[in-house]
Amino acid sequence: MKKEEKVVVLVLLQVLVLVMGLCESSISSSPYVDQMHNRRKSMLSEPTSSLALHRVGSSIVLPVHGNVYPIGYYNVTLNIGQPPKPYYLDPDTGSDLTWLQCDAPCVSCTEAPHPYYRLNNNLVACSDPLCKALYPPGEHRCEIPEQCDYEVQYADGGSSIGVLVKDVFSIKLSNGMQLNPRLPLGCGYDQIPNPAPHPFDGVLGLGKGESSIVSQLSRQGLVRNVIGHCLSGRGGGYLFFGDGPYDSSRLLWTSMSHHHPEHYSPGSAELMFGGKTTGIKNLVLAFDTGSSYTYLNSQAYEALTTLVKKELSGRSLTEASDDRSLSICWSGRKPFKSLKDVKKYFKPLALSFINGGKAKIQYDLPPEAYLIISSKGNVCLGILNGTEAGQGSLNIIGDISMQDKMVIFDNEKKLIGWMPANCDRVPKSKTDSI
Ligand SMILES: *[C@@H]1O[C@H](CO)[C@@H](O)[C@H](O)[C@H]1NC(C)=O
Ligand SMILES: *[C@@H]1O[C@H](CO)[C@@H](O)[C@H](O)[C@H]1NC(C)=O
Repeated sequence: MKKEEKVVVLVLLQVLVLVMGLCESSISSSPYVDQMHNRRKSMLSEPTSSLALHRVGSSIVLPVHGNVYPIGYYNVTLNIGQPPKPYYLDPDTGSDLTWLQCDAPCVSCTEAPHPYYRLNNNLVACSDPLCKALYPPGEHRCEIPEQCDYEVQYADGGSSIGVLVKDVFSIKLSNGMQLNPRLPLGCGYDQIPNPAPHPFDGVLGLGKGESSIVSQLSRQGLVRNVIGHCLSGRGGGYLFFGDGPYDSSRLLWTSMSHHHPEHYSPGSAELMFGGKTTGIKNLVLAFDTGSSYTYLNSQAYEALTTLVKKELSGRSLTEASDDRSLSICWSGRKPFKSLKDVKKYFKPLALSFINGGKAKIQYDLPPEAYLIISSKGNVCLGILNGTEAGQGSLNIIGDISMQDKMVIFDNEKKLIGWMPANCDRVPKSKTDSI
């Protein structure tokens, strides 16, 4: 399901301007100290310009575990705290805040693979710009000045309430250099699980907001504010921050839409079916790793399912209404073992974008990017009715449709790029690029 922070990030542009005005003071210093003093202090305590030079070309690569089906989620391991402890996090490009289930104590926590995180006198004050960045304009209130309360609600029904802290993340750059930056983190003591809960320690927020750890790493001059992922159709893959293991001339790039600043949205597209136009136009899209499947609005979903069903009529596949793995499944004469068995029955789909008013560029969706083989040996459509799932008119490109591609969100150039890729092997350095 699409995850989305309730706290709207529209405010972030304003906050960014404010924060830039304060220079790095937002990162570590007390808000009660006067601004000039803050600025001097932060210049000394934050990474210096010589370190900032390393920023170009530096990257952080993290292996990803999990798959779309049957597991239904991915996880990334991060080491946080002093001494560092491992946590399994759910990577989510649909939200900003990274948080851990937290024994603050817990009001309501869910099952987690590791012991809950514990507070360590490391609260972020309410007046910190990082705290303000978590609230919509005009809604930031300080009931207790010493702490920053947050609440994130995800579109799949899950939520987390907690307080903002800062702690040390132990992260290795791909060149082997060890980084120990202090980064913002939610201590979540009151969680409502989504309808299909799985055990995890927290969420890795990869949205473009100021509170995301990649924004903060970039602010500290450690990596460029770029997030990329490569999810393998065979499960696993990797995630990277900064100047990752890719050659940008080999990717297709499109601008991030200004109309949807809270999402990684490439704007609107037309759906193509078997290389032909479908008339399903103006689909407002957003990329979201927090969603396993892809969602189209009711109208587009209906048009697509009609086309797929028409294509299958007279073939040996029959609708398997007893298989509730996903909304629509089809069975064959005997159970299918892999997508190779069914590829020939399904046409490739594509999303066609007008790039900068000139050339059209396509995001290809081969059958592997929209079908799964269920445990019953049927083939099921991994594109679901977004209107039914409460996504409104937004169309979500979920994990299933991002498999076997390098997908990159360059928050500095405001570009989204992609290319087909083999995501099975985690690259060790830029020279080892795919
Ligand atoms: C997360 O990934 C680790 C490997 O780093 C794996 O051992 C673990 O089972 C995964 N956890 C979950 C909850 O999937
Ligand atoms: C999609 O969901 C909406 C809202 O629940 C519903 O009205 C519509 O009939 C559904 N469309 C299809 C094709 O199932």
